[in-house]
Amino acid sequence: MTERFITSTLNKRDTARETTLRPACFSDFPGQEKVKDQLEIFVRAAKERGEALDHILLSGPPGLGKTTLAYIIANERGCQLKSSSGPAIEKPGELAGLLTSLQEGDILFIDEIHRLNTTVEEYLYSAMEDFFIDIMLEQGPGARSVRLNVPHFTLIGATTRLGMISAPLRSRFGLNIRLDYYDTATLTDIVTRSAGILNIGIEPEGAGELASRSRGTPRIANNLLRRARDYAQLRTNSVITRQAAVEALAMLQIDRDGLDDMDLRILDVIVSNFGGGPVGLKNIAVSVGEEEGSIEDVYEPFLIQKGYLTRTAKGRVATPRAWQKLGIEPLNRRENELF
Ligand SMILES: Nc1ncnc2c1ncn2[C@@H]1O[C@H](COP(=O)(O)OP(=O)(O)O)[C@@H](O)[C@H]1O
Ligand SMILES: [Mg+2]
Repeated sequence: MTERFITSTLNKRDTARETTLRPACFSDFPGQEKVKDQLEIFVRAAKERGEALDHILLSGPPGLGKTTLAYIIANERGCQLKSSSGPAIEKPGELAGLLTSLQEGDILFIDEIHRLNTTVEEYLYSAMEDFFIDIMLEQGPGARSVRLNVPHFTLIGATTRLGMISAPLRSRFGLNIRLDYYDTATLTDIVTRSAGILNIGIEPEGAGELASRSRGTPRIANNLLRRARDYAQLRTNSVITRQAAVEALAMLQIDRDGLDDMDLRILDVIVSNFGGGPVGLKNIAVSVGEEEGSIEDVYEPFLIQKGYLTRTAKGRVATPRAWQKLGIEPLNRRENELF
């Protein structure tokens, strides 16, 4: 998937720092209170019983903390975590290899689990439910299967597309957790915490400004913090004041409401080229030159949440707020028809 502009400016050093910015326990992880409560009880109860955790599915837009939570769960439960991803497990044999390398109670984290192929997914069912896997040896008349027992493990699956998880897979998770966008106050805490860890001088108003334009997403908040730090280092006396934050955000072409260039292009295409919609995802993707997948995963959920877009059976429709944002009068005909 093509990452959005802000993420694509991440360099190697930033990636290493993402690791240091990852909270290691629930008490270090601001926000998602309900999710944390639920997970904390779940983990503590399993720990007291000395049992492996039930399988957990984490879903939500990129950058909200799914991977972080998987590691926190392992840390709080006191077990090992092995990490892989849907597209990386191409054959049942590779899944078998992963599963048999686990110890009793370990966590297998599968990121982008919606991208597992169906064959591998079917093998996963018996492993999740009954802790065995029947592997076919050889093809054709000589084919026979061997049953491998796998230790009682916990599968944590992460996905940005809950809708693409098949019903049989979904039903095998004991806990289905959905992460939502963060509010500005929580993101301000996250920015302030990250600034502390990275030794960056920031005023509360500067932190608030960055937080309010982070699309409700901690990963973006942390990236904006780094970019604002660069800016402040060259332009002011290294402290991120509100003014420095505002100027850095302007340089990054992030507008007052946190919309970036691509968000605005998507809205503009729907409004200017398609009369406000409804328009199919494919048409939008071709018009703005972005992959359908990243429009669906990254841009659209935010635009819908902020009330700029709605999804109808016929396609995407720009709301009056989108027209307003672009400074264009809505077409009355459309408005009457659709709202
Ligand atoms: N609640 C949070 N508090 C502090 N930092 C967070 C929080 N959630 C996510 N992050 C930070 O945002 C970045 C992305 O989180 P990650 O878990 O990789 O998201 P996802 O797996 O959902 O895409 C990480 O650097 C992590 O430190
Ligand atoms: Mg992740």
